[in-house]
Amino acid sequence: MSEDKKSIHGTWSSRWTFILAATGSAVGLGNIWKFPYMAGDNGGGAFVLVYLACICIIGLPIMLGEIMIGRRGRSSPANSMKSLAAEANTTSAWTLLGATGALAGLLILSFYSVAAGWAMSYIFNGFQNITAESSSASFKNLLSSPLSLIFWHSLFISLTVFIVARGILKGLEKWINTLMPMLFLIILLLCIYAMQTGAFFEGLRYLFMPDFSKINPQVMLEALGQAFFTLSLGMGAIMAYGAYMPANQNIGKTAVSVAALDTGVALLAGIAIFPIVFANGLAPSAGPGLVFETLPIAFSAMPLGILFGTLFFVLLSIAALSSSISLIEPGVAWLIESLKIKRITATILLGFTAWFIGLFSALSFNLLSEFTIFGKTFFNATDFLTNQIMLPLGGIFIAIFVGWIMKKEHVLDELGFQENFIFKAWYFSVRFVAPTLVGLVFLSLLYFFFTEEESPDNEKEEEKEIYIEEMVEELEELKGFSISFRDPKTNEIYL
Ligand code: PHE
Repeated sequence: MSEDKKSIHGTWSSRWTFILAATGSAVGLGNIWKFPYMAGDNGGGAFVLVYLACICIIGLPIMLGEIMIGRRGRSSPANSMKSLAAEANTTSAWTLLGATGALAGLLILSFYSVAAGWAMSYIFNGFQNITAESSSASFKNLLSSPLSLIFWHSLFISLTVFIVARGILKGLEKWINTLMPMLFLIILLLCIYAMQTGAFFEGLRYLFMPDFSKINPQVMLEALGQAFFTLSLGMGAIMAYGAYMPANQNIGKTAVSVAALDTGVALLAGIAIFPIVFANGLAPSAGPGLVFETLPIAFSAMPLGILFGTLFFVLLSIAALSSSISLIEPGVAWLIESLKIKRITATILLGFTAWFIGLFSALSFNLLSEFTIFGKTFFNATDFLTNQIMLPLGGIFIAIFVGWIMKKEHVLDELGFQENFIFKAWYFSVRFVAPTLVGLVFLSLLYFFFTEEESPDNEKEEEKEIYIEEMVEELEELKGFSISFRDPKTNEIYL
């Protein structure tokens, strides 16, 4: 094992710290903001099922691989890849995997910070007399104000830079230690509230009863991307943290604990949110605003809601911070090692870059809402590019590196495993299962695009149109009048 080697950036003080730090990285907006709205956008149970399968079959094995590369390399992801490639007598082009990972981290941070800004602004929501309508309206209000969005985005990035510049090993340990369990408790409290909304079982059914007809290549890619995103995989965050892990810690058990905690938080968030959605007649497919529109209703209705609501958004912002620092750390550590610059300089440089790119995401909700890339706003396009393309691709290459490039005896040595059944199952997964499954999802999506006239996006549009037509018909029948629609550009009647 890599006992003699230590990272120049430090080592976690105890076994627990790595688990806490990695869980801090994994648990964040991905669990509480993104998971529920993605499940809602993709039909509920079917998405959740594929997501859980991706976590167990693909995510967990790759997480083990990432921690192992980090701990053996003992440096930034790019340089760990470089030294392990040298150890395996192969090309140093593998450094690129670390470099693109660092880039993915910056891109994710750019839009993550905008959404984290929403969470911070909600700390001051007040949580009183909130109805479904007023809640949706105040979220729309926030999105339509470029100044507020940029203010909160800037504040969030500054906090991230502040923590990372001081060195993530200092101070952070204590924070995560107490605050993460508190967030967990508030989510449990929300679940208890959800139980008595009257729509608890409807919510559970929506989350856990898969409608298999809803599974298509697009849903699979979204679930796969979300699995990578929520576990912080495919871009080196966990690898960077692995470099600070004590040599005597069991990597396998650690990975299982982190993945289990992360999945638990996401599922609990879903269990808390969907009953509130249904009880208040909101649409599960409300998109990125889902959590921000639903939870304030719950807080305003419960005793001590102001206290719990404020505390919840404080903790959510801190959970987002403990994730954002791991988004920038791979790049920062790499710059320090290769350019020999100070930590503070490296952090400010990268923080500024992410802040600048993030401005376009913040403005994509208002001033730049017409500016699209392949039909997506800047915010959605960066989200798509990173989560659904860069992370899964990064994941495939990490699996290939561990399974095919590294020498088996080095892998065994670093993991501290015997060649037992668990090792064999894991090794089989990183060699064959994970790369094949991720590859197949990509291929099926390409096939879908090139052979079918309907792209998955068109299909969604069409579903919406059919839904509108049905609603119109019903209205006409009910009220006894006829409705027609005029195209605003050509003035033609089309429905
Ligand atoms: N896992 C974090 C979350 O769920 C986001 C993240 C992704 C962090 C990738 C680091 C790397 O919020």
